[in-house]
Amino acid sequence: MRYHAVMKKNPYHEQQKALLGGVSAKQFLKQYWQKKPLLIRQAIPGFKGLLDGNELAGLACEEEVQSRLVSYVRKQWQVEDGPFDESRFASLGKKHWTLLVQGVNHHLPDAAELLQRFNFVPHARLDDLMVSFAPDGGGVGPHFDSYDVFLLQGQGQRLWRVSQQKDLTLIDNAPLKILQNFDTEQEYLLEPGDMLYLPPHVAHWGIAVGDCMTYSIGFRAPSAQELATEFLGYLQERISLQGMYADASLSLQKHPAEIGEDMVTRVSAMLKKIRWNKQSVGEFLGVYLTEPKPHIVFESRSKASLAQFVKSVAASGLSLDLKTQSLFFGDRFFINGESIAMAPHWQQCLRQLADDRALPADAVNEDLMQDTGFMQCLFDWYVAGYLHAGKNHGYGGLAE
Ligand code: SIN
Ligand code: CO
Repeated sequence: MRYHAVMKKNPYHEQQKALLGGVSAKQFLKQYWQKKPLLIRQAIPGFKGLLDGNELAGLACEEEVQSRLVSYVRKQWQVEDGPFDESRFASLGKKHWTLLVQGVNHHLPDAAELLQRFNFVPHARLDDLMVSFAPDGGGVGPHFDSYDVFLLQGQGQRLWRVSQQKDLTLIDNAPLKILQNFDTEQEYLLEPGDMLYLPPHVAHWGIAVGDCMTYSIGFRAPSAQELATEFLGYLQERISLQGMYADASLSLQKHPAEIGEDMVTRVSAMLKKIRWNKQSVGEFLGVYLTEPKPHIVFESRSKASLAQFVKSVAASGLSLDLKTQSLFFGDRFFINGESIAMAPHWQQCLRQLADDRALPADAVNEDLMQDTGFMQCLFDWYVAGYLHAGKNHGYGGLAE
């Protein structure tokens, strides 16, 4: 049976409907996604957040974590990039600053699980979970983002001002994007568990009311220029054209220094042999979109044993490391910028691994356990630190 013919039950289906305030995922994509904001009261009832302000500050002190501290002091916006020294937080005032930490899902299994609830949007569009902490009055000012975002309220309250204004002029010389003019059209006070969806380019301004933590589920959309540059780079490594420039019909030129039209025509014909199709674009996307960001490092296991690994998989299955990105396209499987061709009988398993970020032991049948090519492939990724045996995800715990 082909994979697509299998009706896979989505374990998040009911949860997703509640998450979207009774709107089905299908309806949400049709009516709201990339079109208009949606406020959802109690998207996650009882949600109090996944970590507290101190734990977030702890993450911001770690070398491999991307963080920023935004403050508004004497009518000036300031941005400092992490990692921070603990003492930096002790010297902050009681008001008007915000700590923002990117990629919290790379460090916290609960955060990765929270993202799974948003599975109605393809993984290829997902960026990461950013978490912010702000004391009363804190925020990053009136701005717009180029990406879709779900703003889920954790601890405390935040007043969101939203405007679909056309004027998106930014103030000059500020270290972050701040709108020159902001005309509040709607105002919502979000309580823990409430969520606001904003499509790209909708102006917004979140102001903390008391200590406040916001969870931003952010999506990515590469620019046309970025896609073109990256695709050309990808193509360059794979292209293989035959033949050499030849001009047996060369005619006498008046100016020896001139690049003649004939030459341009001949080269144009050669360059027309650069071809790509949907397969090349799909493969490019898989490699490009799963490429880890430059600060991401995996912990490799140089002393691992294949026999021990096979035993562990049989006993407790597999899970992707929290930092791993994995996608598939047709029979190609992508993991952290690497691409392999899946044998037909590998496909169901590997697709499930990418979809669910985990594979229970019983999903790897006896035939696959005996398939040395398959197990060697998984083992190589295990050695590279891309995946773990069991449900461990490679979670090291929060910094004290
Ligand atoms: C924040 O969490 O303070 C910023 C979220 C945003 O406005 O995009
Ligand atoms: Co924003």
